[in-house]
This record gives sequence, C-alpha cells and structure tokens, in this order.
Amino acid sequence: MSFVKAIIPAAGLGTRFLPITKVIPKELLPILNKPAIHYIAKELIDSEIRECCLIINKEKRLLSHYFLPTNAPLKKVLSKKKSTILDSVDYLIDHLSYSYIFQKKPLGLGDAVLLANAFVENDFFSVLLPDDIITGPVPAQKQLLDSARNKQASVIGVTRVPLEKISSYGVIDVQEQINDRLFRVRKVIEKPTVSHAPSDMAIIGRYVLDPAIFKALDLVRLRLDNSELQLTDAIEVLINQNYPVFAYLIDGDRFDIGTPTGWLQANEHFEQLAKTD
Ligand code: UTP
Repeated sequence: MSFVKAIIPAAGLGTRFLPITKVIPKELLPILNKPAIHYIAKELIDSEIRECCLIINKEKRLLSHYFLPTNAPLKKVLSKKKSTILDSVDYLIDHLSYSYIFQKKPLGLGDAVLLANAFVENDFFSVLLPDDIITGPVPAQKQLLDSARNKQASVIGVTRVPLEKISSYGVIDVQEQINDRLFRVRKVIEKPTVSHAPSDMAIIGRYVLDPAIFKALDLVRLRLDNSELQLTDAIEVLINQNYPVFAYLIDGDRFDIGTPTGWLQANEHFEQLAKTD
C-alpha cells in the first residue's frame, strides 16, 4: 500500500457563495494572491502525495488552467525582470501530477469519489475537499496519513465544533479513544440534532479511505431514490462490514472558504501569517 494518490472533489455548485460562483469556481477565489486550490495542492505535496485527480464539471474547466505551464509571453516578461513570482506555482506543477474527471451532474460527494475508482485502483487514497483550508504545524493530510499507515485503515479528519453548530455536520460516535487525537469510530451520524449528537467531533474535508469504500458506495447507490450519494453513508457501510475506521482530531486552524465569511476569515488569517513570516 503506497497511499500516494488523492481525489479532490470540486464539482459542487457553490450555492453558498453565489453570485460570484456563477462565473468563478470557489476553488479559484484568492486567499491573498493565491487561489484556494493552490493551498490544497501544496498540502498534498507536503503530505508526500504524488498524484491527484480533480473532479470538476464543464463550468469549472478554468481550474485545470492553474496547473498548466506559464504561457511563453508571460514567461519572457518575468524572466527579463528576473521575477520569481510564479516559482511557487511551478513548484506545484513539478511535484504533483494532475488529472481531471468530469462529473456530469452534481449527484453528491459520494458520486464524485466513485467516479475516481479507476484512478485510485486498489490502494488507500486521500480525499481533500477544497472548501476546507487548514493551516497548522503539520499539514492536515499528513496527520491523517501517518495514522492511516500505522493502522492500515481508514482515517477521517474531525474537529471539535460548538454544540449549537453541530447540526450542520457529520458527527462521530466514539467507540474507543486510542490517544489524544485518534479515536476508533463506532458510527457516523449525518447532521444530528443537538440532543442526538453523540459527540462534539465533526467530520471536515480530509479523509484517508480504504479502497473498499468503492463497493460500499455502489451498495449505497442501489438503495437510493433520486437523492445525492453521500460519502458518510458509505463510511457507515464500511463500519458495519467491520472495516476499522478511525477519526483523527486535526491540529490546525480550519476555514470553510465555501462561504463569504469563512473566506474572509481565511484571508485575515493568512495576512497575519504573512506579517509574522
Ligand atoms: P458541498 O455541498 O459542501 O459544496 O460539497 P458545494 O456543493 O460545492 O457548495 P454549496 O454547498 O452549494 O455552497 C462538498 C464537496 O463535495 C464536492 C464539492 O465541490 C465540495 O468540494 N461535490 C459536491 C462534488 O464534487 N460533486 C457533487 O455532486 C457535490
């Protein structure tokens, strides 16, 4: 098992950030002078991931342009000025391979992941939701990968959220605490009411998954009517099939850049970081 591949589902509609997302994918909105997707690619490289597959749609083709080599006229101007401004993008292009799969209809996060089955083959793989930008002492995905390699099992990223916000998230029910940050999961409950929330630990956009998840997604799809295919439902199937699933309490600051407020907070945070650099 090499754990070197990652899926970036980015074919959602971005309704929480309309109207700007009518024309610009939220993954390309700037955090300071870099688009959000830049931080995700950097996190992957820093987590020793080598290949990523972005799930996009027709309106989001622009996302793939960011990872193309710089065009000749711009390159010429920058080299004349001896500018290093694009070095950080060249670094992303040189250290990670990018492929793209089109999701024709927004049939849910589970559907987006399932589309990348052939890309992943039969290995543990990462999933990073580009709405969640996380900064911290160790790249968030690396924190999950270290535990996943150690346990040879699925690990989902969680964070503690105030109870009044818990109903917006998938929440874990803990079977056993392994250490300060690692928990064996008994159950995942999607958007519980406050009184039914089994913990204050909410699933955020980082996962390392067993390839058995693809069969689980197929199973969930069979019992669906017209609703979206949810990744958490397939994780629940994995648990019921006795695959070990762990949750890792990620150490870092997380920003949901899928909303204007979260995006603004991310910008403020990165501006502070830049000042202290
Ligand atoms: P969300 O539901 O949180 O985001 O999907 P969204 O649909 O993009 O935006 P809103 O909620 O309408 O504002 C979680 C992740 O799953 C991807 C999204 O791109 C996001 O990264 N996704 C969601 C897909 O790739 N395909 C889908 O059909 C649904």
